[in-house]
Amino acid sequence: MNPFIQGLPKAELHLHIEGTLEPAMMFEFAKRNQIELPYASVEEIQSAYNFDDLQSFLNLYYQGSQVLKTEQDYYELTWAYLQKAADQNVRHTEIFFDPQSHTQRGIEFETVYKGIYQALVDAQAKLDMSFQLILSFLRDLSAEEAMETLKTALPYKDTIVAVGLDSAEQGNPPSKFQKVFEAAQAEGFLTVSHAGEEGPPEYIWEAINLLGVARIDHGVRSLEDPNLINYLTEKQIPLTVCPLSNVELKVFNSMAEHNLKKLLDRGLCVTVNSDDPSYFGGYVAENYQAAADALNLNQTELYQLAKNSFKASFLSPENKQKLIDELDEYVAAKSLRLTS
Ligand code: ADE
Ligand code: ZN
Repeated sequence: MNPFIQGLPKAELHLHIEGTLEPAMMFEFAKRNQIELPYASVEEIQSAYNFDDLQSFLNLYYQGSQVLKTEQDYYELTWAYLQKAADQNVRHTEIFFDPQSHTQRGIEFETVYKGIYQALVDAQAKLDMSFQLILSFLRDLSAEEAMETLKTALPYKDTIVAVGLDSAEQGNPPSKFQKVFEAAQAEGFLTVSHAGEEGPPEYIWEAINLLGVARIDHGVRSLEDPNLINYLTEKQIPLTVCPLSNVELKVFNSMAEHNLKKLLDRGLCVTVNSDDPSYFGGYVAENYQAAADALNLNQTELYQLAKNSFKASFLSPENKQKLIDELDEYVAAKSLRLTS
């Protein structure tokens, strides 16, 4: 790992907490909760992580989540991620959780929420890392089920900044959830949505026009629509791009073919994130590193990506500025001469 990347103050804005379940932890929780796993070893799990597309990943991801049962499990899962993030100088993190993948199995929303939230509060105190929590609806389930989930979350709405949309994209357009998102906005939630990961640019337009999103998660297929690129650039609607995820899920055939640099060169507010690090082979710094290696990103571009991560966050303007100042100090201390 390049020490410049490791130490770069950064925010992570696209991270599914269920996607941080490392194989060893999966075994530990399965044993503790007396759940049978279809794998005999950590190595067997790792060799199963060979994906053809988003759906082939989601099948294993939801299967993996089933080992999570108690508040302690959710706490330990989240705490383990936060420690790794702190080691990579993640100064602020915005975490997705998928309540429906747990409530569908009979786990209470409160159990999931409390474990995750307590770890985040502890990280703020012990690791000096700020956070936001984003509730994500599973788009392959019905809009009615999403609405039910929203209602369940209302008692906790002061600590959940936004709602999002994830899971199988193709055939589940943002328009399916327009009413749910309107209800969420009326309750004060911000909105984000996965769009243009596997789905077409039209889904990105729908997320903007029908769901009122503040950011697009992934959005890499935006490059197919010049009008959309112009719009995203003009409005500076951020994209939370996840390079290793896109390559592992065959959105791009290789990192060298990833369009991250093209998007950055076009002036979009692009950020780098890890999505589901335990499944895709790296946390956020490994994502910066892999993109930098394959796309020849220089330190000015890496700085820009980190700066974008703070700009695109749901922090207050004052807190954004504090972290951008910290980033500027980091760069100044390294005596870097940034090129324009
Ligand atoms: N859930 C977890 N990771 C996801 C991804 N990359 N796309 C859609 N849903 C997800
Ligand atoms: Zn995602």
